[in-house]
Amino acid sequence: MKHATPLLLAALGLGLTTSAAHAQNAALTARITTLAAAEQAKVVAWRRDLHEHPELGNEETRTAQLIAAQLKSLGLEVHTGVGRTGVVGILRGGKPGRVVALRADMDGLPITETTGLAFASTVKTTYLGQPVGVMHACGHDTHVAMLLGAAEVLSQVKKDLPGTVKFIFQPAEEGSLPGTVGGAKLMVQEGVLENPKVDAIFGLHIWATAPVGQLQYRPRGEMASSDRFTVKVIGKGSHGAKPWSSVDPVVTAAEIITALQTIVSRQVDLTQDAAVVTVGTVQAGVRYNIIPPDATISGTIRAFSPKTQEQIWAAIKRTANGIAAANGATAEVGIEPYVPVTYNDPALTARMLPTMQRTAGASNVVEIKAVTGAEDFACYQEKVPGLFIFLGGMTPGTDPGTVADHHTAGFKVDESAFPLGVKTLATLAADYLSQK
Ligand code: NI
Repeated sequence: MKHATPLLLAALGLGLTTSAAHAQNAALTARITTLAAAEQAKVVAWRRDLHEHPELGNEETRTAQLIAAQLKSLGLEVHTGVGRTGVVGILRGGKPGRVVALRADMDGLPITETTGLAFASTVKTTYLGQPVGVMHACGHDTHVAMLLGAAEVLSQVKKDLPGTVKFIFQPAEEGSLPGTVGGAKLMVQEGVLENPKVDAIFGLHIWATAPVGQLQYRPRGEMASSDRFTVKVIGKGSHGAKPWSSVDPVVTAAEIITALQTIVSRQVDLTQDAAVVTVGTVQAGVRYNIIPPDATISGTIRAFSPKTQEQIWAAIKRTANGIAAANGATAEVGIEPYVPVTYNDPALTARMLPTMQRTAGASNVVEIKAVTGAEDFACYQEKVPGLFIFLGGMTPGTDPGTVADHHTAGFKVDESAFPLGVKTLATLAADYLSQK
């Protein structure tokens, strides 16, 4: 019924004319705006509490309890333990309609905070056997707080909502341990987009280098796919003084690392797609005068289309195997597809652009270039149309070059960003449900 004329809709008795629907939208938006502004003190309090008590991916039990208690207090149907520590809240509107999902991620990072904030984290834990601090260094604390705010706002206009809102609080966006499934992918596998079946999904990410008041988006490929790769070079160990007795995996790995640099620079058509191949770890040997039997490197692949992704996978295998063979060694190449491209559905993006413009003001809605970071929101977008937006979190007038970026120990955001975030989430859901 998407393309039916207002006259036909009226004739069929299916509802309001377009202008009446718009008037109703405007009234609902106005109420949401007022309610979102009134949430600020609570959102700030939730955020500071979460910030002071960050938890690593798949360990967000305290965070989950706080979320579940708040959603239950609003009278929502609440499911816990989804995708390990995830929480889902279901708000059924007073009128029948479609189902829209709003998503926030919950996890912190293994970083020792240095912001000096009054509510800075002092939490310490162990990660992969190493003692680490824990910090909300990507702003996921703000995402949880703003989505709790949006849940409260929408529950206050519940009787006028035509449809259902599903609030998805997702663990482990930053990734699970290698070889394990977690985050959005696991929630999808466990049916988070079913019962009731989700028609569209929205999410936002606070952004440290975008000014408060701004919403940023990109139709189609917004953020890159992210795949992990490892290359284990198997040679032959020997005394470091007698390299001729060895098949040296260190030298072979070094040649492979250098050759991998030519995949993007010499083989990918960069006029079509950006791409990245980065080697992040090199591990070999235990002592300076022993040539070890093997060496392992690992890294990340970023791309904006499945075609480029597959081209890079093939090139890594060919390069590693070819160089290993030339040196008399063998290579075992492992590629673990991790997160697909964060792909904003073009029709949904076009349809919700007026909502974003009305919410933030037209001049504050900015189309951006592709981002080579990855976001597992992409796993929902593989199944249902979705739109992922960046929310300005930088104090206006600040030089973005001086800002402590995401995933660093000094990462900070301006809390005055939150009312727009709450309003945007609530309005996207309400407008989506109200539009026929
Ligand atoms: Ni993040």
